[in-house]
Amino acid sequence: MRCLLPLLLALSACAPALPLVTEPDRAWARQAFPETDDDLADSRSLYATKCSGCHLLVLPRRVPQRDWPVILDKMAPKSRLNDADHARILRYVLMASRPGQPQ
Ligand code: HEC
Repeated sequence: MRCLLPLLLALSACAPALPLVTEPDRAWARQAFPETDDDLADSRSLYATKCSGCHLLVLPRRVPQRDWPVILDKMAPKSRLNDADHARILRYVLMASRPGQPQ
């Protein structure tokens, strides 16, 4: 067991932490996407599930917000997203990569 501990620590260090959804996140999304009432926490889970199968989960803020639509157009077929899930994940990453957030 003693020799497993460093390995476990190393593995957990690799997993990027996807930040939890906060009230400012929700407020931003309500303004940006008044046409939907998605639960952002559900969209976050969807992102974590659908987008970590082939590579480590990319933290949304590591990609400039303006690049996300094109990247998702490329990745959605890889994840076999239906249109509704594609749209939800897009709204989530646009929220989570918006400029001006604390890093
Ligand atoms: C079937 C495997 C697979 C799945 C599922 C997948 N990706 Fe990827 N992803 C790749 C590969 C391969 C690359 C690198 C080559 C490329 O850009 O096609 C990549 C690259 C990326 C990049 C780097 C940007 C770029 O275009 O170079 C981002 C960001 C990304 N993926 C996000 C996502 C998101 C978000 C999802 C969920 C909707 C997702 N990926 C699901 C295989 C996958």
